[in-house]
Amino acid sequence: MQTFKDKINPQQLPKHVAIIMDGNGRWAKSRGEKRTFGHKHAIKAVREVVNACNEIHIPYLTLYTFSSENWNRPEDEVDTLMSLISETLILEAEEIFTKGLRMHIIGDIEKLPPLVQEQMLHLVDVTKNNTKGNLILALSYGSQHEILSAVKKISAKVKNGELTEDQITEKVFEDHLYTCEFPPVDLMIRTSGEVRISNFLLWQIAYAELQFLDTLWPDFGREDFFKCIYEYQNKERRFGKISEQLEENL
Ligand code: IPE
Ligand code: IPE
Ligand code: MG
Repeated sequence: MQTFKDKINPQQLPKHVAIIMDGNGRWAKSRGEKRTFGHKHAIKAVREVVNACNEIHIPYLTLYTFSSENWNRPEDEVDTLMSLISETLILEAEEIFTKGLRMHIIGDIEKLPPLVQEQMLHLVDVTKNNTKGNLILALSYGSQHEILSAVKKISAKVKNGELTEDQITEKVFEDHLYTCEFPPVDLMIRTSGEVRISNFLLWQIAYAELQFLDTLWPDFGREDFFKCIYEYQNKERRFGKISEQLEENL
Protein backbone atom coordinates (compact mmCIF):
# COMPACT_ATOMS: atom_id res chain seq x y z
CA MET A 1 0.00 0.00 0.00
CA GLN A 2 1.26 3.43 -0.93
CA THR A 3 1.77 5.69 2.07
CA PHE A 4 1.70 9.48 2.14
CA LYS A 5 5.45 9.44 2.56
CA ASP A 6 5.77 7.66 -0.82
CA LYS A 7 3.69 10.37 -2.47
CA ILE A 8 5.84 13.25 -1.24
CA ASN A 9 7.93 15.01 -3.87
CA PRO A 10 11.40 15.48 -2.35
CA GLN A 11 12.02 18.45 -4.68
CA GLN A 12 9.13 20.45 -3.27
CA LEU A 13 9.52 20.23 0.45
CA PRO A 14 8.67 23.13 2.72
CA LYS A 15 11.81 24.63 4.25
CA HIS A 16 10.11 25.61 7.47
CA VAL A 17 7.17 23.90 9.16
CA ALA A 18 5.64 25.34 12.32
CA ILE A 19 3.18 23.45 14.49
CA ILE A 20 0.67 24.58 17.13
CA MET A 21 0.50 21.38 19.14
CA ASP A 22 -2.97 21.76 20.63
CA GLY A 23 -5.54 19.49 22.23
CA ASN A 24 -3.68 17.69 25.04
CA GLY A 25 -6.21 18.70 27.70
CA ARG A 26 -9.23 17.55 25.69
CA TRP A 27 -7.49 14.30 24.80
CA ALA A 28 -7.00 13.56 28.50
CA LYS A 29 -10.49 14.68 29.52
CA SER A 30 -12.11 12.42 26.93
CA ARG A 31 -10.40 9.55 28.74
CA GLY A 32 -11.57 10.72 32.16
CA GLU A 33 -8.04 11.81 33.06
CA LYS A 34 -6.48 15.05 34.27
CA ARG A 35 -5.18 17.51 31.66
CA THR A 36 -1.57 16.77 32.59
CA PHE A 37 -2.07 13.17 31.42
CA GLY A 38 -2.52 14.64 27.93
CA HIS A 39 0.69 16.64 28.19
CA LYS A 40 2.59 13.46 29.08
CA HIS A 41 1.20 11.69 26.04
CA ALA A 42 2.07 14.63 23.80
CA ILE A 43 5.76 13.73 23.89
CA LYS A 44 5.32 10.68 21.67
CA ALA A 45 3.74 12.87 18.98
CA VAL A 46 6.62 15.35 19.26
CA ARG A 47 9.12 12.55 18.81
CA GLU A 48 7.30 11.19 15.76
CA VAL A 49 7.16 14.58 14.07
CA VAL A 50 10.80 15.40 14.80
CA ASN A 51 11.81 12.01 13.35
CA ALA A 52 9.54 12.40 10.32
CA CYS A 53 11.00 15.83 9.57
CA ASN A 54 14.49 14.46 9.89
CA GLU A 55 13.66 11.51 7.65
CA ILE A 56 12.54 13.62 4.71
CA HIS A 57 15.05 16.42 5.41
CA ILE A 58 12.87 19.39 6.25
CA PRO A 59 15.48 21.83 7.51
CA TYR A 60 13.42 23.89 10.01
CA LEU A 61 10.74 22.73 12.43
CA THR A 62 9.26 25.11 14.99
CA LEU A 63 7.10 23.68 17.76
CA TYR A 64 4.80 25.89 19.81
CA THR A 65 5.47 24.35 23.18
CA PHE A 66 4.36 26.99 25.70
CA SER A 67 2.87 30.38 24.92
CA SER A 68 3.27 33.63 26.83
CA GLU A 69 -0.45 33.33 27.62
CA ASN A 70 -0.02 29.80 28.99
CA TRP A 71 1.57 31.35 32.11
CA ASN A 72 -2.03 32.23 33.07
CA ARG A 73 -3.00 28.56 33.46
CA PRO A 74 -3.45 27.02 36.95
CA GLU A 75 -0.16 26.87 38.80
CA ASP A 76 -0.07 23.07 39.06
CA GLU A 77 -0.53 22.69 35.29
CA VAL A 78 2.28 25.19 34.60
CA ASP A 79 4.53 23.38 37.07
CA THR A 80 3.80 20.01 35.47
CA LEU A 81 4.50 21.41 32.01
CA MET A 82 7.82 22.89 33.13
CA SER A 83 8.86 19.60 34.77
CA LEU A 84 7.87 17.67 31.66
CA ILE A 85 9.87 20.00 29.42
CA SER A 86 12.86 19.61 31.70
CA GLU A 87 12.59 15.77 31.85
CA THR A 88 12.09 15.54 28.10
CA LEU A 89 15.15 17.67 27.40
CA ILE A 90 17.24 15.31 29.55
CA LEU A 91 15.79 12.18 27.96
CA GLU A 92 15.95 13.35 24.37
CA ALA A 93 19.22 15.32 24.41
CA GLU A 94 21.35 12.44 23.19
CA GLU A 95 18.91 11.50 20.42
CA ILE A 96 18.75 15.12 19.23
CA PHE A 97 22.52 15.26 19.17
CA THR A 98 22.92 11.88 17.43
CA LYS A 99 20.44 12.87 14.76
CA GLY A 100 22.61 15.90 14.03
CA LEU A 101 19.87 18.36 14.90
CA ARG A 102 20.62 21.89 15.94
CA MET A 103 18.42 23.12 18.75
CA HIS A 104 17.12 26.68 19.06
CA ILE A 105 14.80 28.40 21.46
CA ILE A 106 12.56 31.40 20.81
CA GLY A 107 10.56 33.27 23.39
CA ASP A 108 10.90 35.25 26.58
CA ILE A 109 13.14 32.63 28.11
CA GLU A 110 14.03 34.64 31.20
CA LYS A 111 10.57 33.81 32.52
CA LEU A 112 11.30 30.08 32.48
CA PRO A 113 12.49 28.30 35.64
CA PRO A 114 16.31 28.62 35.89
CA LEU A 115 16.81 24.86 35.44
CA VAL A 116 14.85 24.80 32.16
CA GLN A 117 16.77 27.88 30.94
CA GLU A 118 20.06 26.20 31.76
CA GLN A 119 19.11 22.93 30.08
CA MET A 120 17.82 24.69 26.99
CA LEU A 121 20.84 26.93 26.59
CA HIS A 122 23.16 23.96 27.16
CA LEU A 123 21.41 21.98 24.41
CA VAL A 124 21.50 25.01 22.10
CA ASP A 125 25.23 25.30 22.76
CA VAL A 126 26.22 21.65 22.36
CA THR A 127 24.25 21.27 19.13
CA LYS A 128 25.42 24.53 17.56
CA ASN A 129 27.63 22.82 14.97
CA ASN A 130 25.00 20.27 13.91
CA THR A 131 23.80 20.56 10.35
CA LYS A 132 21.11 17.89 9.77
CA GLY A 133 18.16 20.14 10.65
CA ASN A 134 16.98 22.83 13.02
CA LEU A 135 14.58 22.12 15.85
CA ILE A 136 13.15 25.35 17.23
CA LEU A 137 11.15 25.32 20.46
CA ALA A 138 8.84 28.27 21.06
CA LEU A 139 8.79 28.49 24.82
CA SER A 140 7.19 31.32 26.77
CA TYR A 141 6.66 32.66 23.26
CA GLY A 142 4.27 35.40 22.19
CA SER A 143 4.41 36.95 18.74
CA GLN A 144 3.10 40.37 19.75
CA HIS A 145 5.80 40.63 22.41
CA GLU A 146 8.42 39.58 19.84
CA ILE A 147 7.25 42.24 17.37
CA LEU A 148 7.14 44.90 20.05
CA SER A 149 10.68 44.02 21.20
CA ALA A 150 11.87 44.35 17.60
CA VAL A 151 10.24 47.79 17.36
CA LYS A 152 11.94 48.85 20.58
CA LYS A 153 15.37 47.61 19.46
CA ILE A 154 15.01 49.38 16.13
CA SER A 155 13.82 52.64 17.65
CA ALA A 156 16.78 52.60 20.05
CA LYS A 157 19.09 52.25 17.03
CA VAL A 158 17.37 55.15 15.27
CA LYS A 159 17.72 57.22 18.40
CA ASN A 160 21.45 56.58 18.74
CA GLY A 161 22.09 57.10 15.01
CA GLU A 162 22.90 53.47 14.14
CA LEU A 163 19.95 53.36 11.72
CA THR A 164 17.96 55.97 9.81
CA GLU A 165 14.22 55.71 9.29
CA ASP A 166 14.75 55.00 5.55
CA GLN A 167 16.92 52.01 6.38
CA ILE A 168 14.08 50.21 8.18
CA THR A 169 13.15 47.62 5.56
CA GLU A 170 11.30 44.34 5.99
CA LYS A 171 14.66 42.57 6.05
CA VAL A 172 16.00 44.88 8.78
CA PHE A 173 12.83 44.35 10.77
CA GLU A 174 13.16 40.55 10.45
CA ASP A 175 16.75 40.78 11.63
CA HIS A 176 15.40 42.00 14.98
CA LEU A 177 12.97 39.11 15.51
CA TYR A 178 13.84 35.98 17.51
CA THR A 179 13.58 34.10 14.22
CA CYS A 180 16.19 36.19 12.37
CA GLU A 181 18.25 33.12 11.45
CA PHE A 182 15.34 31.13 10.03
CA PRO A 183 13.48 31.28 6.71
CA PRO A 184 9.79 32.30 6.73
CA VAL A 185 7.26 29.60 7.63
CA ASP A 186 6.01 27.69 4.56
CA LEU A 187 3.50 25.48 6.35
CA MET A 188 1.75 26.04 9.64
CA ILE A 189 -0.25 23.16 11.15
CA ARG A 190 -2.63 23.39 14.10
CA THR A 191 -4.20 20.33 15.67
CA SER A 192 -7.35 20.12 17.86
CA GLY A 193 -9.95 21.74 15.61
CA GLU A 194 -9.34 25.33 16.72
CA VAL A 195 -9.01 27.72 13.80
CA ARG A 196 -6.85 30.43 15.31
CA ILE A 197 -3.23 31.48 15.53
CA SER A 198 -3.01 32.13 19.29
CA ASN A 199 -0.20 34.68 19.06
CA PHE A 200 2.19 32.41 17.12
CA LEU A 201 4.68 33.74 14.51
CA LEU A 202 2.34 36.44 13.20
CA TRP A 203 4.97 38.08 11.01
CA GLN A 204 6.62 34.84 9.90
CA ILE A 205 3.41 33.18 8.60
CA ALA A 206 2.57 36.05 6.22
CA TYR A 207 2.59 33.69 3.23
CA ALA A 208 2.45 30.29 4.93
CA GLU A 209 -0.02 27.60 3.95
CA LEU A 210 -2.26 27.00 6.96
CA GLN A 211 -3.65 23.60 7.87
CA PHE A 212 -6.12 23.12 10.71
CA LEU A 213 -6.75 19.51 11.69
CA ASP A 214 -9.37 18.06 14.03
CA THR A 215 -6.92 15.49 15.42
CA LEU A 216 -5.89 16.14 19.02
CA TRP A 217 -2.14 16.53 19.40
CA PRO A 218 -1.41 13.28 21.35
CA ASP A 219 -3.07 11.35 18.47
CA PHE A 220 -1.00 13.08 15.81
CA GLY A 221 1.73 10.92 14.28
CA ARG A 222 4.19 10.32 11.51
CA GLU A 223 1.64 9.47 8.79
CA ASP A 224 -0.49 12.53 9.68
CA PHE A 225 2.59 14.67 9.29
CA PHE A 226 3.44 13.19 5.90
CA LYS A 227 -0.18 13.75 4.82
CA CYS A 228 0.17 17.44 5.75
CA ILE A 229 3.32 17.69 3.63
CA TYR A 230 1.62 15.93 0.74
CA GLU A 231 -1.34 18.31 0.93
CA TYR A 232 0.98 21.28 1.14
CA GLN A 233 2.59 20.13 -2.12
CA ASN A 234 -0.81 20.16 -3.81
CA LYS A 235 -1.36 23.86 -3.16
CA GLU A 236 -0.32 26.46 -5.65
CA ARG A 237 1.62 29.14 -3.81
CA ARG A 238 1.11 32.22 -5.92
CA PHE A 239 2.57 34.95 -3.69
CA GLY A 240 0.23 37.47 -5.29
CA LYS A 241 0.88 36.38 -8.89
CA ILE A 242 -1.45 34.45 -11.21
CA SER A 243 -1.17 30.77 -12.18
CA GLU A 244 0.04 31.48 -15.74
CA GLN A 245 2.98 33.46 -14.44
CA LEU A 246 4.02 30.56 -12.23
CA GLU A 247 3.79 28.10 -15.12
CA GLU A 248 5.98 30.34 -17.25
CA ASN A 249 8.29 30.92 -14.31
CA LEU A 250 7.95 34.70 -14.68
C1 IPE B 1 -1.67 22.19 24.09
O1 IPE B 1 -2.76 21.49 24.61
C2 IPE B 1 -0.50 22.25 25.05
C3 IPE B 1 -0.22 23.58 25.58
C4 IPE B 1 -0.87 24.65 25.29
C5 IPE B 1 0.87 23.69 26.52
P1 IPE B 1 -3.81 22.18 25.56
O2 IPE B 1 -3.32 22.02 26.98
O3 IPE B 1 -4.09 23.56 25.16
O4 IPE B 1 -5.09 21.27 25.35
P2 IPE B 1 -6.58 21.76 25.13
O5 IPE B 1 -6.56 22.74 24.00
O6 IPE B 1 -7.03 22.38 26.41
O7 IPE B 1 -7.34 20.52 24.80
C1 IPE C 1 -1.58 27.51 21.87
O1 IPE C 1 -2.53 26.69 22.44
C2 IPE C 1 -0.26 27.37 22.57
C3 IPE C 1 0.42 26.10 22.41
C4 IPE C 1 0.02 25.06 21.71
C5 IPE C 1 1.66 25.98 23.12
P1 IPE C 1 -3.57 27.23 23.52
O2 IPE C 1 -4.43 26.07 23.90
O3 IPE C 1 -2.88 27.91 24.63
O4 IPE C 1 -4.39 28.29 22.68
P2 IPE C 1 -5.78 28.99 22.97
O5 IPE C 1 -5.67 29.70 24.27
O6 IPE C 1 -6.82 27.91 23.02
O7 IPE C 1 -5.99 29.90 21.82
MG1 MG D 1 -5.35 24.39 23.83
